[in-house]
Amino acid sequence: MTLAAEIAAADAPEPSGPRPWDLDAIRRDFPILNQQVNGAPLAYLDNAATAQKPTAVIESIADFYRHDNANVHRAVHALAERATLAYEGARERVRGWINARSVSEVVFLRGTTEAINLIAHGLGQGWSAGDRVVLTQMEHHANIVPWQLLRERAGIDIAVLPINDAGELDLAGLPRLLAPPTRLLALTHVSNVLGTVNPIADIVHIAHEHGVPVLVDGAQAMAHQRVDVQALDCDFYCFSGHKMFGPTGIGVLYGRQAHLAALPPWQGGGEMIRRVTFERVRFADPPQRFEAGTQDFAGAVGLAAAIDYLDNLDQGALARHEQSLLRYAVERLDAVPGLRLIGRAAHRAPVLSFLVDGVHAHDMGTLLDRKGVAVRTGHHCAMPLMDFYGVPATTRASLAFYNTRDEIDRLADAIDYARGVLA
Ligand code: ALA
Repeated sequence: MTLAAEIAAADAPEPSGPRPWDLDAIRRDFPILNQQVNGAPLAYLDNAATAQKPTAVIESIADFYRHDNANVHRAVHALAERATLAYEGARERVRGWINARSVSEVVFLRGTTEAINLIAHGLGQGWSAGDRVVLTQMEHHANIVPWQLLRERAGIDIAVLPINDAGELDLAGLPRLLAPPTRLLALTHVSNVLGTVNPIADIVHIAHEHGVPVLVDGAQAMAHQRVDVQALDCDFYCFSGHKMFGPTGIGVLYGRQAHLAALPPWQGGGEMIRRVTFERVRFADPPQRFEAGTQDFAGAVGLAAAIDYLDNLDQGALARHEQSLLRYAVERLDAVPGLRLIGRAAHRAPVLSFLVDGVHAHDMGTLLDRKGVAVRTGHHCAMPLMDFYGVPATTRASLAFYNTRDEIDRLADAIDYARGVLA
């Protein structure tokens, strides 16, 4: 090496790895966490409903509106160019994060629900009465009702893969359900009620052996793990920005290029066409074909900022922290007399659904709120799963990487308080 090269190498910045895992510093990135609710510090344990946003995400959206806002793909002025670059840059950021092969496989939509409706609408155009979609017992209504609407329209059948008491899929029954006339397997990656992490790569492998494509509802997975759509080998994968520390109103449908190219449009309007006359219309290629009208481009910018934020965290430390919180929470909740935890899958995300003898879930939610502890109560948009467990509702504490052991202690103490008041 020449002297000049040595000096240049010595001056080069160190390759920047993830930041050191410092929970206090991480919590300071989320301004909303630092507040009192009902006279107590907020313990936000409702992350499966929506996750909180770091300052970097909030500022990215504000900056976009302050400096770059203009409609995308439509004009040649400077702001329009900047906005278009930011929007398409966000698409490339998503592509890289999920390891899609091409940006044409990344469609921006409102969220997971819209993505599944788009797929059901599009695939359904080619299906006949009697064709079958396979779902699972643990699906969110977002992955049930669109198929029921299709059943009403086209007479398709819906089959359901059962689960065991622990909340794990009964994969032994899967091959039988995948036999013709099954056209699609649509299932969640992570259960929003049980936290179960389904073995998607194995399931996709089985489905593909039967010639059945797979749609994955990734709404609850993206906040807890890095997802690689090529490694999973799934055909469609969808998720929502707001559950992965990004803004509301923006989500993603990933679809293999060949699948998206074969799908008809979802909505008609501007920007999803090549040529329109009153006699006929020729549609744009994906992803534009599915992005009619003005998209939430500021939301896409915020989603890219959320990915940047996640990318800067040590993924191994994040997973270890979440799993340690989960173990601790299970230990604390198991010690509460009369508390029944629903869902004990071996592999699960930090989501804890429970019932307490003599206390209705809604009352539990109200009493926990009095102590500053925010949880969700109800059926969690998963009524068939509630039916399986024979319960109308649960209380659900869903954790994120910024939660602490202290917050778990506060949850357990607040449950004791609620039992004292009501049980
Ligand atoms: N699907 C979200 C939840 O589980 C809203 O709470």
